[in-house]
Amino acid sequence: MLFNNNQQESIKALDTPFYYYDLDLLDQTLSQAKTAADKRGFHVHYALKANFNDRLLGLIQSKGFGADCVSGNEVQKSIDLGFSADKITFAGVGKSDKEIITALKHNIFAFNVESIQEMEVINELAGQLGVTANVSLRINPNVDAHTHHYITTGLDENKFGVPTSELEKAASVIRQAPHVNLIGLHFHVGSQITDMNVFKSLCVKVNEWKNWFEERGTTIQVLNVGGGLGVDYQQPDENPIPDFEAYFAIFDKFLERQPHQEVHFELGRALVAQCGALVSKVLYTKSGVKKNFLVLDAGMTELMRPALYQAYHKIEKVGGESNNTTLNYDVVGPICESSDCFGKEVPLPESQRGDLIAIRTAGAYGEVMASRYNLREEIRYAFKQNEEITVG
Ligand code: LLP
Repeated sequence: MLFNNNQQESIKALDTPFYYYDLDLLDQTLSQAKTAADKRGFHVHYALKANFNDRLLGLIQSKGFGADCVSGNEVQKSIDLGFSADKITFAGVGKSDKEIITALKHNIFAFNVESIQEMEVINELAGQLGVTANVSLRINPNVDAHTHHYITTGLDENKFGVPTSELEKAASVIRQAPHVNLIGLHFHVGSQITDMNVFKSLCVKVNEWKNWFEERGTTIQVLNVGGGLGVDYQQPDENPIPDFEAYFAIFDKFLERQPHQEVHFELGRALVAQCGALVSKVLYTKSGVKKNFLVLDAGMTELMRPALYQAYHKIEKVGGESNNTTLNYDVVGPICESSDCFGKEVPLPESQRGDLIAIRTAGAYGEVMASRYNLREEIRYAFKQNEEITVG
């Protein structure tokens, strides 16, 4: 259960819908991740794309994480919030010249480069600014992440990274580019990965391509293995924190790194998903011919994952007097799209207009993917810190 009795009272007074972030849980999650990474000398850059809410980012920065960015604005925001430039990486398959220039001016740690042409553009822009850019080459390793096909990124048919068949050419372009300095290799095979064997297979590929470069006399300083560690959407209360120890142990065991080589990670979801929930009010209860509907005041505009990926999020009623009757509801939003549905046939205590509903594990790819479709209102927040709930 998300809230104790006292907290339920404060929550009831708030305007819905809102994102609720448990910063105490975030703090514990970050500490566990940091401890497990630090003891192996691993570096973790937080993938801002999962959630760039200022309060969350502030905490993440204060714990010593780096920032993995995918736009010039994310780079700028990381700088503004105090991430040091030498802990900022810039990834993404379509960086604009303007964004590249922003990152070059801030002298960030490295660009994760996704194509030979991008490498040439960075070289040219760095030359114009009179600087040298550190780059890691993103290799598409053709590893199947066994996750939803929309969030699989490391297969030959995906747009990401340089295919291994082009590495020879990429290596030669880099050698002839005076304003880029190849420091590392970058991999990322997908998101919400729960099968640890995927990471083992990734390690095998990383070793293979690292050796390939070293055999050709190129020193590789950084092995960046991306992110992708999944969380338990089914049981957020039982498993609020992913098993970072087991995750990092795999890379510790299977990556063949030299003493001088750093291992970098770009975790997003695993750090922030469980600390967030979308809290919404029941506007209407409705019995259709075949279904019972709960019509909420939140919809796909606030949390798009169910509509976009058929993603499962646990849905629960927040406190309130409930009789013992459980009904199966289709929990839907107010948007004029049939995909605007958070869950079908969800067993919930019989509910009425005004009841609060929490949609769990919404801290990652929730708020950041919200839209104003239908001219919906701006997202609101509440935060729990030191057991107290405040409105953001
Ligand atoms: N690094 C790269 C290069 C990425 O593309 C991503 C995520 C990450 C790191 C962070 O991955 P994570 O640790 O969060 O799995 N909107 C989708 C997820 C898209 C992930 C995109 N890339 C969702 O809601 O499931």
